[in-house]
Amino acid sequence: MCGIVGYIGHRDAYPIIIKGLQRLEYRGYDSAGIVLFNGESMQLSKTKGKVEDLRSRIKDSISTNGKLGLGHTRWATHGVPNDVNSHPHYSNSGDLVIIHNGIIENYESIKKALIKRGYTFESDTDTEVLVNLIEEVKRKEGVKLGQAVQIALNQVVGAYAIAVFDKNKPDEIVVAKLGSPLAIGIGENEYFIASDASPFIEYTNNAVYLEDEEMAVIRIGKEIKLRKIKDDAIAYPNILELQLNLEEIEKGGYDHFMLKEIYEQPRAILDTYRGRLLADKGIIRMAGIDQNLEKFLNANRIIIVACGTSWHAGLVAEYIFEDLARIPVEVEYASEFRYRNPVITDGDVLIAISQSGETADTLAAIKMAKEKGAFVFGVCNVVGSSIARETHAGAYTHAGPEIGVASTKAFTTQITVLTMIALKLAKEKGVFSESKFHEFLIELEGIPEKVEKALQSNELVEEIANVYKDSSNCLYLGRGYNFPVALEGALKLKEISYIHAEGYPAAEMKHGPIALIDEEMPVVVIATRKGHYEKVVSNVQEIKSRSGKIIAIVTEGDQTVKEIADHVVEVPETSEALTPLLTTIPLQLLSYHIALMRGCNVDQPRNLAKSVTVE
Ligand code: F6R
Repeated sequence: MCGIVGYIGHRDAYPIIIKGLQRLEYRGYDSAGIVLFNGESMQLSKTKGKVEDLRSRIKDSISTNGKLGLGHTRWATHGVPNDVNSHPHYSNSGDLVIIHNGIIENYESIKKALIKRGYTFESDTDTEVLVNLIEEVKRKEGVKLGQAVQIALNQVVGAYAIAVFDKNKPDEIVVAKLGSPLAIGIGENEYFIASDASPFIEYTNNAVYLEDEEMAVIRIGKEIKLRKIKDDAIAYPNILELQLNLEEIEKGGYDHFMLKEIYEQPRAILDTYRGRLLADKGIIRMAGIDQNLEKFLNANRIIIVACGTSWHAGLVAEYIFEDLARIPVEVEYASEFRYRNPVITDGDVLIAISQSGETADTLAAIKMAKEKGAFVFGVCNVVGSSIARETHAGAYTHAGPEIGVASTKAFTTQITVLTMIALKLAKEKGVFSESKFHEFLIELEGIPEKVEKALQSNELVEEIANVYKDSSNCLYLGRGYNFPVALEGALKLKEISYIHAEGYPAAEMKHGPIALIDEEMPVVVIATRKGHYEKVVSNVQEIKSRSGKIIAIVTEGDQTVKEIADHVVEVPETSEALTPLLTTIPLQLLSYHIALMRGCNVDQPRNLAKSVTVE
């Protein structure tokens, strides 16, 4: 986690870095810092708090001149969030300065060795240890900064994206990456460094994404040269032309990114199937699947790995793949899968789902499955991300940048991609008749319009939110395809409003959670007409007879549940397999409004980060 930004060139670095940090704040926001070098002196400012706090602190306290600078927004790993632990960090001599995203796992032993050699430390961070290790190597070996970084990195265990410079060589910044992302933006006689391309997209759309174990010495007036950290081999930079546009990463008139992203879903789903789903021709065209069709058709089983919301999308996919394509599926938390010595064979297909494409556990699970011979397919949103690069093949969800920490449009677009894959395999396997396949395509094509309709429940959902905003607990129930939606609804509520919430399969309620139900307990029930409707209605009755407060998500025109529930929110009718794309919308809105009414920071909930690049 943490966001890093750097600039070297002919412009003032300060505005570029501050704005860049604000764009990267989704990666971590418990402290922020900046260092600027104007050719004579270094100006450093750092503080616990947000980038806005940093900006206020800088006002009048330091000079903001300088064509070279580094900035950091932190999500604490070693050392509590406070001013001292914030980045950048100086080396003991004051010559070197570093920003770092990641974790140096063996920092304690290195720190002890450095203390023995007379080094002192101000902070509790692993990063301050790293910059001093670089300094010690540079001094002892008499080498240049680039080489010192390389030697030092060969001594550390962990993950990093770093940028470091020496005030005595102000025309260069050394960067390196292992595990955490790092992009270099290439302008005219200027370079930008960042955790993703959003800080520099208005200046250049040419970028290089460093691969793991690569480093570069970025020097004004020189082309970028990449090296392998381990063996010094030259690596050739793959300069990409980015498609990102600035409007997409700004709020566009909405109060929060989360609300903007909820409302973007009709467009995001459409963009995700555009050019792939040709309903009139009865075709699904996805290069990553088409080129590897045999692997999928001959798979013993599909294993899906992911974390958080992406894991919930994986659970929906399990229902879809098994129900439509009749392929056995297992869905695993990446963090558990990677450590439990799973049985994987070369007949397995592993699908990794990740919005950011940087989640450390998911990335590690991919590497392990590859080593054991599985074919690995990625479903990512961020183009060029580590997971997208590490997988054998994949399909992007064209959701556009998701900035709000709570995932919304990533979830529905992941389900869209996975549904298309399942439909395609169902057709190829002959499980589906032409006409059934065609019917499904038309239904999927109509989903954006139905999501638009589901969004019209916003005002009603806001009223419901007002009734339950002070609750301390909330239960979410669903069955079949809508069980994972219940889990996702509960996750959304707890992560942004801090209300304790749990999702359960509706029928499991009587095996425990029913004991919690009383007149204080709101229970959100997904009770769409298709999908075990009568059984869910019985569950709703059971809640009612224990005085629970029922918020039901129902299919348009439903009468039965309306008579029992305290509140009903309607979504349009669709085929059962596609209901999650609609039922999830009011649940996203409910958590948004409740969090807002409780005064929570919707886009940046406490303790969370958008991109979890540590395990
Ligand atoms: C929840 C949320 C997280 C992420 C999880 C995986 O709203 O955002 O649970 O879903 O950290 O992240 P990705 O999909 O980037 O791998």
